[in-house]
Amino acid sequence: MSIIILAIESSCDDTAAAVIRDGRVISNVVADQEIHARYGGVVPELASRAHQANIVPVVDAALKESGVSADQLSAIAFTRGPGLMGSLMVGVAFAKGLAISHNIPLIDVHHLHAHVLAHFAEPPMPEFPFLCLLVSGGHTQIMLIHDHLNLELLGSTQDDAAGEAFDKTGKLLGLGYPAGPEIDRIARSGSPVFDLPHPRLPGYQFSFSGIKTAIRYFLEAEVRNNPWFIQESLPDICASIQHHIVEILLDKLILAARDTQISQVAIAGGVSANSALRQRFEEVGRKEGWTTYIPPLAYSTDNAAMIGITGYYKYLAGELASMDIRPEARIPLDR
Ligand code: KG4
Ligand code: ZN
Repeated sequence: MSIIILAIESSCDDTAAAVIRDGRVISNVVADQEIHARYGGVVPELASRAHQANIVPVVDAALKESGVSADQLSAIAFTRGPGLMGSLMVGVAFAKGLAISHNIPLIDVHHLHAHVLAHFAEPPMPEFPFLCLLVSGGHTQIMLIHDHLNLELLGSTQDDAAGEAFDKTGKLLGLGYPAGPEIDRIARSGSPVFDLPHPRLPGYQFSFSGIKTAIRYFLEAEVRNNPWFIQESLPDICASIQHHIVEILLDKLILAARDTQISQVAIAGGVSANSALRQRFEEVGRKEGWTTYIPPLAYSTDNAAMIGITGYYKYLAGELASMDIRPEARIPLDR
């Protein structure tokens, strides 16, 4: 008999649902929330309200698209955290209600675990053990993946995440939220001609908060000389920021791969949608002799397919959640 899992993701500002049959994605629906663009960032209270409005139509669309009915489901997987508490609560409460009404088990999923297992949504899939650079709006880490359910954290950011570095510098440039995709687009017509200070942190640790400050001082100085500097040089500024972030990320990934002697290497998370990171990662991989894995764009940014894939492997291992489980805004990866 098939194992069919309905997955729900509501950790930040995307309401998403997907159906996974025997580890394959058969539907994947995401409703993003445009409301936050107006405020230059995600407003938690507005995100919770939008999830509340979106969750029924999104789950309904995912079920319809899959051709599966709710009583065929084997289990319901949901994002337990990390994320915004109010947003998580909407997904968790909905998952519980549906599980109780259909008398099926619940599976709690760690959002970052899911970003990594997005690589198992479709071939080619990495072989164990592999390294994964996870770069999202809230996290930047290098992980050693021993198997589907066993992830070891090697290093992470000490302050801002790579996605925040894109979003916060973009805000200084007057770009909308999230600025990451905008910087990616504008940088295509520019060159990385401006230098930025390279943080020197030990091991596999990252720091991105200095970039925002460096960019602010740099822009202030340039605009004093030429009030039109930002408008005139926007593509070069974007290309410089992007190049800088990508090189910091890849330097540490190269270090981790050389130290661990692991040549199966992956990237994951929203920032792995960045075209310069994808391209440089391939180039570096060729030079270093890696087999590289890049998730399809739909599985890079937040989605429920990755929650369902992780739910599937947890289901196979019998790792189910109890009905009194609660969402958590912060959860270490080893729980
Ligand atoms: O994984 P994700 O969708 O949500 C979180 O779990 O945080 O990541 C969102 C982050 C945002 O900071 C966004 O600006 C960034 O991913 N992002 C990008 C690109 N697409 C999304 N950053 C740079 N270039 C992109 N193309
Ligand atoms: Zn995410």
